[in-house]
Amino acid sequence: MPEPRQILVTSALPYANGSIHLGHMVEYIQTDIWVRFQKMRGNQCYYVCADDTHGSAIMLLAEKRGISAEALIDGVWAEHTTDFADFLVEFDNYYSTHSPENRTLSSEIYRRLRDAGYISTRSVTQYFDPEKNMFLADRFIKGDCPKCGAEDQYGDNCEKCGATYAPTELKNPRSAVSGATPVLRDSEHFFFRLPAFQAMLQAWTRSGTLQDAVANKLAEWLDSGLQEWDISRDAPYFGFEIPDAPGKYFYVWLDAPVGYMASFKNLCSKRPELDFDAFWGKDSTAELYHFIGKDIVNFHALFWPAMLEGAGLRKPTALNVHGYLTVNGQKMSKSRGTFIKARTYLDHLSPEYLRYYYAAKLGRGVDDLDMNLEDFVQKVNSDLVGKVVNIASRCAGFIHKGNGGRLVAGNAAPELSDAFLAAVPSITDAYENRDFARAMREIMALADRANAWIADKAPWALAKQEGRQAEVQAICALGINLFRLLVVFLKPVLPNLARDAEAFLNVAPLRWDDLNSLLQDHPLNPFKPLMTRIDPANVDAMVEASRENLAATDSKPAGNGELLAEPLAAQIDFEAFAAVDLRVAKILKADAVDGADKLLRLTLHLGDEQRNVFSGIKSAYPDPAALEGRLTVMIANLKPRKMRFGVSEGMVLAAGPGGADIYLLSPDSGAKPGQRIK
Ligand code: 2FM
Ligand code: ZN
Repeated sequence: MPEPRQILVTSALPYANGSIHLGHMVEYIQTDIWVRFQKMRGNQCYYVCADDTHGSAIMLLAEKRGISAEALIDGVWAEHTTDFADFLVEFDNYYSTHSPENRTLSSEIYRRLRDAGYISTRSVTQYFDPEKNMFLADRFIKGDCPKCGAEDQYGDNCEKCGATYAPTELKNPRSAVSGATPVLRDSEHFFFRLPAFQAMLQAWTRSGTLQDAVANKLAEWLDSGLQEWDISRDAPYFGFEIPDAPGKYFYVWLDAPVGYMASFKNLCSKRPELDFDAFWGKDSTAELYHFIGKDIVNFHALFWPAMLEGAGLRKPTALNVHGYLTVNGQKMSKSRGTFIKARTYLDHLSPEYLRYYYAAKLGRGVDDLDMNLEDFVQKVNSDLVGKVVNIASRCAGFIHKGNGGRLVAGNAAPELSDAFLAAVPSITDAYENRDFARAMREIMALADRANAWIADKAPWALAKQEGRQAEVQAICALGINLFRLLVVFLKPVLPNLARDAEAFLNVAPLRWDDLNSLLQDHPLNPFKPLMTRIDPANVDAMVEASRENLAATDSKPAGNGELLAEPLAAQIDFEAFAAVDLRVAKILKADAVDGADKLLRLTLHLGDEQRNVFSGIKSAYPDPAALEGRLTVMIANLKPRKMRFGVSEGMVLAAGPGGADIYLLSPDSGAKPGQRIK
């Protein structure tokens, strides 16, 4: 038996200012599958993560909500941990970057870098908000594009013409936080001397630590020369104050990756057998892997290894980089209902469907992964229900009826069980190398063979014939054994299915070694259905609920502090406007909809016809009857849309971010139902 490997694994720390969505889940599911595989193999593998809690975006969001930053991040931590647990993502520790361990470790690493001469200081001139008394990051400055003049552009690039520029080049700059005109002000900043690590990084990024595509991207950056990295921010800032530098704080990206160490340190305090230095010390022989998305490669492949090297610590064994999620071939979109939060998915569908679908799509590369919703339904139903679970449900009944639930000894088709055994090295290798798509293909090919063999033997036909009971039992016993092997193969992806199958099979928790044996003369427990098919109506309802979310929830920033004001949509021609038929409508009736938290059903009078419209405004109108008799504005030529509760024949217009802040539009008095708005 080889010694178990010591492996520490991380996923990127999600920001504590927004909900987890299906885009995030690609990474957590990918990592969790890999970790579960390692644990099933008998390796000592630890999976740590945390919320990424610092920065001005979180500070400003807390302020906007009238709560402390600590209260904000505590609430988000509770939400994130429940979402992950319900997706069966099993961390050994899920912590917070706002922790005593992280403060100590970040400060210690900084001191070591400073004492080794890797920190420099110099004055930086930046925009300052004189009303809020704070320096403004680029994304908190808006103004007119210096190239094309487009209004309301962010401080670093123009969404209209694509130009990039310094915030000081914007015309008519203003603070997106307070609206004030910013002024230029100097302040001393601390820099990490990244160029000192050029040679080390050149070697490290080419030493098998990175996928080729990632190494090539890094080579471009390295060849064009590295810059010193600004690691300080001025108060007010939610974060850790820099040692011996009052009023200066670590930039959030300095203490975020140290959060990996801090989460592990915290785990060590709960598990005395773990030795922190054995994992992080310079001579560590443990393996260290960071799973990340391709947008944050520079932080993990340049700054982070350089910080570790400079502080006398070990560097990562490898980075495992993945691409982005698209839904139905496009970027996730709130208006299409494809920006799906983890919780909205879980309200409608089982987590294992998504775990399997992602596994079936995830390769080793950094390509984007597309979730086509029709393909999702089709693939899960055909593979998991149609191929895998089907084997057990076809065979179990005969064993319970014909042999008191006991598997007979023997092997009805050794060539078939040998084929399963022969596939073990290849499937093991696919999991180890994160080529889950290949693993799933090979596993389903085995399931196809098992099903074809059972169909050929047709135990259901034999069972009707006199004297063939022994054959029926032999066929079904092998069927159940092949099902058991498939469950072992799929256990990293489908832990709940495996748990229920273990109960049915009456066996201890399955491990990878169990692939080497078959159950002989073994009692089963009663069979219960292990998985049901996805009903496409649930997928539709999830998409509808994601669309509703937009109208009815506070629009929270997705990244670290985009968006305090909603940006303007792209310009349209007059023809596009004229194509929208806006009408005055009178609300005849307004009712709550059973089973929908956010919807009202409105009966609208349009002059000579009536319309039924569902609208996500309930949170602002808890007493719907109060709307009856009121005039509003509707889009009358929107194609009818089938929803879970009926057909919606148009849309009423309302303003506001959501919740209680929704304001239905009304024309001046005197307007008549059915009049066109031009
Ligand atoms: O991009 C992000 O969502 C960051 N919060 C990831 C941080 S990963 C690590 F370095 F902390
Ligand atoms: Zn422009």
